[in-house]
Amino acid sequence: MVKICCIGAGYVGGPTMAVIAYKCPNIEVVVVDISVPRISAWNSDRLPIYEPGLDDVVKHCRGKNLFFSTDVEKHVFEADIVFVSVNTPTKTSGLGAGKAADLTYWESAARMIADVSKSDKIVVEKSTVPVKTAEAIEKILTHNSKGINYQILSNPEFLAEGTAIQDLFNPDRVLIGGRETPEGYKSVKALKDVYSHWVSEDRILTTNLWSAELSKLAANAFLAQRISSVNAMSALCEATGADVSQVAYAVGTDSRIGPKFLNASVGFGGSCFQKDILNLVYICECNGLPEVAEYWKQVIKINDYQKSRFVNRMVSSMFNTIANKKVSILGFAFKKDTGDTRETPAIDVCQGLLGDKAQLSIYDPQVMEDQIQRDLSMNKFDWDHPLHLQPMSPTTKKKVHCVWDTYEATKDAHAVCILTEWDEFKKLDFQRIYDNMQKPAYVFDGRNVVDANKLREIGFIVYSIGKPLDAWLNDIPVVA
Ligand code: UDX
Ligand code: ADP
Repeated sequence: MVKICCIGAGYVGGPTMAVIAYKCPNIEVVVVDISVPRISAWNSDRLPIYEPGLDDVVKHCRGKNLFFSTDVEKHVFEADIVFVSVNTPTKTSGLGAGKAADLTYWESAARMIADVSKSDKIVVEKSTVPVKTAEAIEKILTHNSKGINYQILSNPEFLAEGTAIQDLFNPDRVLIGGRETPEGYKSVKALKDVYSHWVSEDRILTTNLWSAELSKLAANAFLAQRISSVNAMSALCEATGADVSQVAYAVGTDSRIGPKFLNASVGFGGSCFQKDILNLVYICECNGLPEVAEYWKQVIKINDYQKSRFVNRMVSSMFNTIANKKVSILGFAFKKDTGDTRETPAIDVCQGLLGDKAQLSIYDPQVMEDQIQRDLSMNKFDWDHPLHLQPMSPTTKKKVHCVWDTYEATKDAHAVCILTEWDEFKKLDFQRIYDNMQKPAYVFDGRNVVDANKLREIGFIVYSIGKPLDAWLNDIPVVA
């Protein structure tokens, strides 16, 4: 029986390994993590991450060929294939601060593998890492090898949160990069054999190591670029009276462009897009390509612009002051169907509103209050350090209330601000919400989920991203 061990039981390691175990009953999969609460949660009825379909997959295999453990060394020692899916934060100090990847967790995982191994191993990069990380890891392993043969593969994961199980069951492609040597080809084949249990041959792409590593950064940069492109258009639409949904539809029907990832929004979030683009920028700069670096940097600048434009629009519409006004925030996760808040645009929007002294009442169906409070008091990039729990600022806490119900969140509020496209927000009783709000009552829809015309009939002043503005808003200049 082939034994797989995955280091890191997070959003990538957990679901990916659960699906491998589900699809390959002849393989034993153990997911290990240094975090005791995380592993306990994976072994409980309440999994540490919310992901549609994940519970069923885990329940089906847990205890049979899928195990979760904190005994990292034992399971690495026993494994034939070791996946590494640990955090790769952005550096917050020193060389490359704010851009380069901090490989502390990766390096410590590699050194531990070298310490405990007594048999040959295939080591697979699963976390997104900068190009040429595999080479560095290979050096750590071979210089400490004690005669053991290590083969390094890059197998980036393309799943998106909220649809992870679907994406893993039916991937557009599986990408495996390896060394172009006989041993390299052999280990690529071994990993290919795992995926071949359920993915057809033509969807398993094999490349050299660097191409696989760069492809992941490039794919995320291209996806994020589409969102920044449509968001840039949304600002122009608002200024000119065009409707960004109509423009995006017209653009997306060109088969060369395609319809996906053209939804204008308050901005993209998530653990990958910003981090991976910053990495790409850093790699370009290090390779003497400042123009290319500048090009990709712009994708992030537009994303930041979109978030601050949204806050400015809110403040200026409400007579330029929101001090002590109750603003109801609906949705805090970075997208629907996940409880993940990493780099969610809600953090910047809420911080912007708190900066103008608003009182926030926040509701998200999947995000817990302590997570929200922590997010709002954390420094940039600190979210990706598992051992680093920031103390909460007491002043933030006083201004932010989290509730478990939309109608409570919106009661007596001056404005409703939608920051995640949860399906339940499409079905709200807006007449009831309006009746219980202060007047004039505003809705700022950062995800274009509400029917603005219906809400205007009720009496709301509505702002939707990239749509023709209410006369009320049109008269107010916004400084971005
Ligand atoms: C992304 C990639 O899609 C995935 O392939 C990679 O493995 C990890 O990064 P993820 O961050 O989970 O996945 O979610 P994704 O669906 O890509 O959304 C990212 C952000 O972009 C979200 O905040 C989402 O709301 C936003 N978005 C997405 C838009 O604003 N408009 C769109 O049209 C699509
Ligand atoms: P991703 O979204 O890429 O899966 P996460 O932050 O959700 O990232 O998960 C990474 C996991 O890796 C965390 O649960 C963290 O505790 C774990 N981790 C980090 N370093 C190590 C290590 N050296 N050994 C075991 N687990 C680790």
